[in-house]
Amino acid sequence: MRSEDAGMIYLRDYQPTPYAVETVHLTFKLAPTATQVISKLKLSPRAGIAAGAPLELDGDELEFVSAKLNGTPLAADAYEVSAERFCLLAPPADPFELEIETRLNPQDNTKLMGLYLSSGNYCTQCEAEGFRRITYYYDRPDVLAVYTTRIEADTAQKYLLGNGNPVAEGALEDGRHYAEWHDPHPKPAYLFALVAGDLEVVSKPFTTASGRDVALNIYVEKGNGSKADYAMDCLIRSMVWDEKVFGREYDLDVFNIVAVSDFNMGAMENKGLNIFNDKYVLADPSVATDADYAGIETVIAHEYFHNWTGNRITCRDWFQLCLKEGLTVYRDQEFSSDERSRGVKRIEDVRSLMARQFPEDGGPLAHPVRPEQYKEIDNFYTATVYQKGAELVGMIRTLLGLEGFRKGMDLYFDRHDGDAATIEDFIACFEEAGGVDLSQFALWYSQSGTPVVHSKRTQDGAAGTLTLHFEQELPATPGQSAKKPMLIPIRFGLIGASGAELVPSKVDGAKVDGDVIWLSETQQDVTFHGIEEEVVTSLLRGFSAPVILKSDLCEFEKLFLMQHDSDHFNRWQAAQEQGTDIVLALAAGEELEITEPFIKALGVVFADETLEEAFRALMLTLPSYGDLQRAKGTDVDPEAIYQARKALSSRIGAHLQEELRGYHQLPLAEAAFDASAAAAGKRALNNQALHYLAACEVGGGAALAKQQFDLARNMSDQIAALRALVHDDLPGAAEALASYRAQHKDTALAMDKWFVVQATAPEGNLLQVLDTLTKDEAFSWRNPNRVRAVVDAFASGNPRQFNAEDGSGYAYLAKVVLEVDGSNPQLAARLLNAFRSWKVLEADRREKAELALRSILDAKQATSINIRDIAERCLQ
Ligand code: TRP
Ligand code: ZN
Repeated sequence: MRSEDAGMIYLRDYQPTPYAVETVHLTFKLAPTATQVISKLKLSPRAGIAAGAPLELDGDELEFVSAKLNGTPLAADAYEVSAERFCLLAPPADPFELEIETRLNPQDNTKLMGLYLSSGNYCTQCEAEGFRRITYYYDRPDVLAVYTTRIEADTAQKYLLGNGNPVAEGALEDGRHYAEWHDPHPKPAYLFALVAGDLEVVSKPFTTASGRDVALNIYVEKGNGSKADYAMDCLIRSMVWDEKVFGREYDLDVFNIVAVSDFNMGAMENKGLNIFNDKYVLADPSVATDADYAGIETVIAHEYFHNWTGNRITCRDWFQLCLKEGLTVYRDQEFSSDERSRGVKRIEDVRSLMARQFPEDGGPLAHPVRPEQYKEIDNFYTATVYQKGAELVGMIRTLLGLEGFRKGMDLYFDRHDGDAATIEDFIACFEEAGGVDLSQFALWYSQSGTPVVHSKRTQDGAAGTLTLHFEQELPATPGQSAKKPMLIPIRFGLIGASGAELVPSKVDGAKVDGDVIWLSETQQDVTFHGIEEEVVTSLLRGFSAPVILKSDLCEFEKLFLMQHDSDHFNRWQAAQEQGTDIVLALAAGEELEITEPFIKALGVVFADETLEEAFRALMLTLPSYGDLQRAKGTDVDPEAIYQARKALSSRIGAHLQEELRGYHQLPLAEAAFDASAAAAGKRALNNQALHYLAACEVGGGAALAKQQFDLARNMSDQIAALRALVHDDLPGAAEALASYRAQHKDTALAMDKWFVVQATAPEGNLLQVLDTLTKDEAFSWRNPNRVRAVVDAFASGNPRQFNAEDGSGYAYLAKVVLEVDGSNPQLAARLLNAFRSWKVLEADRREKAELALRSILDAKQATSINIRDIAERCLQ
């Protein structure tokens, strides 16, 4: 074994446990620094596995109190115990009951895994391996058991919540009370949850399609009740949608959601008791932007949908994480597409994939959608598992068609309900339902890296043929140098000189199903017959596969697609490619004149009132810094890219100033706030207009931004104006920041935006700003949302400052990561991900980034596996 493989866990080593757990009975006697946990497990040896094997249970930082076997205290030589492990050396051959008592300190649990206190409320987080911080257990997803939970607490903790249905409650002595919950659905430990707190609740009844009455409750911190209505509306719409689109109903008498303010991730799908980062529950026009409303809708739906994809059917092991996450992201994306605008949603989802997953897949942290090894599972809740995982499900749907896909899903639900399943199980359902062989497709789960597809046209007018010469290039990624060709669905359109879509009389060279080419070979020529006119190809429509397409379209043709393609995704993609080419050319020293045709085309789209505002706003969004860095590929000078992108923004503002000013409206008194997608789209385009006017010196944007800030009636408009003032360094920026602070100082989620705006400012002495922000009384190193609003906003959202030439940005991040690691390793590791693309930088910055990464590994203090794993893989 090589030394760097120490502590590595491999997919190929999977083995079931020697014992099954039938039931778990937990009693919690809650107290801030000394909570007593009594766990009673009914265990039985699994048939066919070595009889008499020791029972080895997981623990993590546990304080052991006592243990009994079948009601009798265990003799000292009958077991071994440490903070990390409990081992019953010689278990009985017949089913037996093991009782273990542990003691916890929720108040000092800063990792936010296991049982902890958030604003005085008890809550838990068990995925992936947090249950072992509560009691000794088989803390792995393939051990399913029926849980009963008894919670005892002070009556100051008004609500006592557990998984499943409430079965009993009552008073105890000394001002304490209890509640008991029973969850009839067998589940793995990671879905366990408990909440106890002095909360406020919003409730609504729901009746499922088959007539089950369900009480829906959303619990929030006191005073926030009115901010939970939107989340409740989203929950009800999600439940109705899952019945209609997937035929899936809810299966308990209650569905509880609790919003907490200290949370490592977005939310958690614990059975019947979802726990949320309050950022994904609380909405109110004065605090939440349109993006926040959309995020709440998505996350509420996501966690609810997990009830079937994740909970009823769970994962055999953590390597199968995409089985629940990729599929559930696919489902939440479909939900939002149906609730909002499908075309716009698709562009937003792909944009997010390109911003977050492409850099991961193209750098040292690249891993397959189903990884085959890990050291720390927390580090694999990644954009690749979630977002690329969702793309793979979308490709299955594209290959099978909607009907075949639904048949495959029905089979999956039917066959695997109650199972801890694998990706192989999932794929087999679609092979059967669709009558197709998906063995080549399955490579998408094991081969990492983003494929590059090259396409070139040759046309033979006399023969009436168009041939597309495709080539797939599969870049080497960590641990994978040689790869097999993939099955890539390419949705296509052929646009003739007249602008009409041409339909070929015959196609050869590849399987073509409707408008989808099944590309399957490294090099493949696909010939379309009956094509007389000259053709502009529109390939990869709707982003039918997560690849980078390099076509032979010229600038003129891209500008044509930008304005005329019937596929909205490809209109947007053409604009992105054109924008990218221009910014990189400017960065390489080209004159600004080259931007004219592009800006003219943008102007046409901007003025086209037949298009949705949300779509026009996206068309007017330039490629992000990350997109540009990726397109450049090597030897990146972040400063040059920043300056070029800025010059293009300013030029767009100057050239379209009349149209932009004519469109822009100050948000004067409007009727009640409208959170609909259509109204949000109007605000998005209005704020895009403001953005360009503020970016140029001649558009009067500075005054407009100031006025909009003063008149804003909702957070989207207010924050857009504040961002313009601060990021473009306009007069009035400091006053606006002060006035915002005065208005929102008591609302943490609104203050996060104040932190973000400043931490992402491209100009000014930012390290000094960061120092001031982290000393602000609204800031706390213990709250993940606050830390992300300052540190992650800076490291991942401020490329110019983070990549400062002197390396000070890298050094700052390394220092902060080491500090945060001491209290919350999961959070620290996420911040460290900002180094995922360091290898594409020019040599000087590369050297400085490498030094910063090495400082993590060479730190004198004890460091977590979480941050060491990220640093090691970045450096490998
Ligand atoms: N399963 C959660 C989801 O819906 C992810 C999650 C929430 C999580 N909290 C976590 C993962 C803590 C790891 C650690 O996507
Ligand atoms: Zn999820």
